Amino acid sequence: MNPPEPLIRSSMRPHDTVIYQIDPRLFRDANGHGWGTLDGITEKLDYLAWLGATVIWLLPFYRSGDRDGGYDVVDHCAIDPRLGDEASFDRLVRAAERRGLRVVTELVMQHTSDRHPWFQAAQRDRKSPYRDYYIWRDQPEADGSKPIFPPIESGVWRWDAIAGQYYRHRFYAHEPDLELATPQVREEARRIMRHWLDRGVAGFRVDAIPYMVERAARADPEDGGRWLLREMNAEARRARSDPVLIGEADIAAGEYGTYLDDGRRLTHVLDFHLNNHLFLVLARQDASELARTLAEYGEDAPAARRVAWLRNNDELDLEQLSPEERKEVMDAFAPEPWMQLYHRGIRRRLAPMLDGDPQRISMTHALLFSLGQIPVLRFGDEIGVGDELEFPERESGRTPMQWHAGTHAGFTDGPAPWRKPIAGGRYGYERLNVRAQRQQNDSLLSRIRRLLHARRHCEALSQAPRIVDVGNRAVFAALFEHNGSRLLALVNVSADAQRIALPGGSGDFQVELASDVDFPDPASARLSAYGYAWLSA
Ligand code: NOJ
Repeated sequence: MNPPEPLIRSSMRPHDTVIYQIDPRLFRDANGHGWGTLDGITEKLDYLAWLGATVIWLLPFYRSGDRDGGYDVVDHCAIDPRLGDEASFDRLVRAAERRGLRVVTELVMQHTSDRHPWFQAAQRDRKSPYRDYYIWRDQPEADGSKPIFPPIESGVWRWDAIAGQYYRHRFYAHEPDLELATPQVREEARRIMRHWLDRGVAGFRVDAIPYMVERAARADPEDGGRWLLREMNAEARRARSDPVLIGEADIAAGEYGTYLDDGRRLTHVLDFHLNNHLFLVLARQDASELARTLAEYGEDAPAARRVAWLRNNDELDLEQLSPEERKEVMDAFAPEPWMQLYHRGIRRRLAPMLDGDPQRISMTHALLFSLGQIPVLRFGDEIGVGDELEFPERESGRTPMQWHAGTHAGFTDGPAPWRKPIAGGRYGYERLNVRAQRQQNDSLLSRIRRLLHARRHCEALSQAPRIVDVGNRAVFAALFEHNGSRLLALVNVSADAQRIALPGGSGDFQVELASDVDFPDPASARLSAYGYAWLSA
């Protein structure tokens, strides 16, 4: 009998880990040619450390077809020359290490670009070893698989005149699916992992995991194909004792555990289920939904292995909600058709959805940080960057970082940014930028930074929360216990001041962090509109 696989301890603790998601093309251009660069990120590491980030999640910076934010990879081991080179990547990883920051990169092995040399070789020759890297059929397979980007794509099969067959693509037609059932494809994945692990990355955010697993199951149905994750995990562990494999899996809460297996498969999952329900709570201004949501995870998907966020690089995909719940969120945050996308999501950024109100936006972050999960911040959300809804699809939320009020928002010092920062009006860089907000104590940036720094000292926030009934549905109240100390997190998700019953009494608690909480009498607390507090006992 094989010895049992070792249990993988998580190297990320929720109370002092903050993942900061960066689109390298949009963060900072260090050489004035108009594109964000890896050296540009290195320039800004002091800012990230000051803010309280501990892990940098880099969106794709590989050579790509440039038609899906870089996820249409053309060469998994080559850096897009506009963004940097091997030397600049090395500089970034070393400089990050010196500041205690780890770097996580993207592993995109569900598909490639149709310009990838593997695909081009496969197209041209049925006998090529690369033919089996992809999924070909003489006729489209009617297995009910739906395209991920409707109505841009109407199906998952595309006729290829060069190949003389149809190929499968769950995402865009220019992104043919890789066949993970083919052993050589899995070996390529391991080779690519080794390549980046050798260059010092802490691990990967693994793209489109359920679809990869679904193909692996075709080769061997054991564990529904999840053995693939064990293979990848073992590869990562050969390079590091504490690798990070964060899986993108938009699946039901009850399924997460099967993708984790105590860290023997993925080490963490991106928690879409929670993300959707957070927005339901915000739409209803009623926190009671969270108690139900948090009860849906099995013990095999502990909070500390779940990664939580508000907005990311994509649309706010609301597929974890029922049609009625989705409508509630849409009505509250995306009432106009042009704010919606793919019949399921919202293409606005966080700040405009929350009326740009710093108190309301910082409240949502307080809520995010009060769940015992590992949080992700999307670059720019800490200052409330807006969106450009005239851009197509998900590009609406992909605008350059706003560093200061000078030329091109400090994104580039050159004459021509490839994409212009948002200018003018409430969200324009002239008013809304890092430099201005650093100088104001009540800015969104200062509030979020205070939350992140307070959190570091509250080790209890690493524990799974226990929801407390405080007699008021508008207030999320959770108790965290750790080594005999207790922390009570209170978040008023409503636009009105709220009074709650305090478990114990005010004498029991000491304020660790508060935004407008007071104690009218020993048995209760009063939170202002969108107020929040962390109280320790
Ligand atoms: C998830 C990424 O976040 C998204 O931007 C991309 O389009 C798909 N995966 C396909 O790679």
